[in-house]
Amino acid sequence: DWNMPNYIDEAIGRIRARVGNERVILGLSGGVDSSVAAALIHRAIGDQLTCVFVDNGLLRQHEAKQVMETFSRNLAVNVIHIDARRQFLERLQGTSDPEQKRRIIGREFVEIFQQEAARIDDAKWLAQGTIYPDVIESAGSKTQKARTIKSHHNVGGLPDTLHLELLEPLRELFKDEVRELGLALGLPRDLVFRHPFPGPGLGVRILGEVKYEYAELLRQADAIFIEELKYSGWYEKTAQAFAVFLPVKSVGVMGDSRSYEYVIALRAVQTEDYMTAHWAELPYTLLAKISNRIINEVRGINRVVYDISGKPPATIEWE
Ligand code: XMP
Repeated sequence: DWNMPNYIDEAIGRIRARVGNERVILGLSGGVDSSVAAALIHRAIGDQLTCVFVDNGLLRQHEAKQVMETFSRNLAVNVIHIDARRQFLERLQGTSDPEQKRRIIGREFVEIFQQEAARIDDAKWLAQGTIYPDVIESAGSKTQKARTIKSHHNVGGLPDTLHLELLEPLRELFKDEVRELGLALGLPRDLVFRHPFPGPGLGVRILGEVKYEYAELLRQADAIFIEELKYSGWYEKTAQAFAVFLPVKSVGVMGDSRSYEYVIALRAVQTEDYMTAHWAELPYTLLAKISNRIINEVRGINRVVYDISGKPPATIEWE
């Protein structure tokens, strides 16, 4: 059992002792870990921290705005907001293989981040939201097999051409401790209890080739799904939930005319470790409401299906 105010004081002391008056950069993703790391480091060294937030166009609805509001406006953290939406889409054009898409998104991120980092020419430190399970995972071989099924690109994959020293203040913490710390540092509950979101974002939730039009439809459907899960209390009862865009058209009826539009699949799972997972037994009434709302509110979608596959043999993401 640890004492939070003491822990924060000690962590701040350690960061100050290591960093001194040097500058630190951090890639902010909007996820829990990088957010808590940013808030903690900012508490310790204030304006010596610069965060870089890359909008790759594959984020969820209003996500970029929320990150900027939370960090730049509310916490007064220095955040460089890079709008790279067009650039990512251009690089992804014509690619439909999931692993190839991951490589492109990962490479593009690294490139942009390095460019920005090079501009902050006196930066000496690269901060990351690495947490204890990441540390064990990269040391152990148990997950090595799982990793070869899908390559995972996080901020962690930055090459050391930047010649920066690593600052990882969350390395000893488990996820629930990171969350507790985030709340104590004043981060909004919404952010702290957010489901995990893959580095490649909607890039692996739009099956096949990524297109702007698909991303827009997916964002709208996903936002409705998440809103209804939160409203019904199911968001906290699931470990991860999201919509998937299927680039196939099916026939429907809208009023007195025939429609021919795209399909959205809903995925919600319960899991502790993300290595195995059960599909969440969401109430039929809730599924019905979500389906109705998506079909009525998202123009371009006329069919919604629910994924009832476990992991294994299916994975949590569709790509
Ligand atoms: P799968 O689909 O392999 O997902 O059952 C297990 C967990 O990992 C997340 N995931 C990723 N996270 N980059 C990430 O940062 C990726 O490329 C990636 N692929 C899957 C997935 O969201 C789930 O939480």
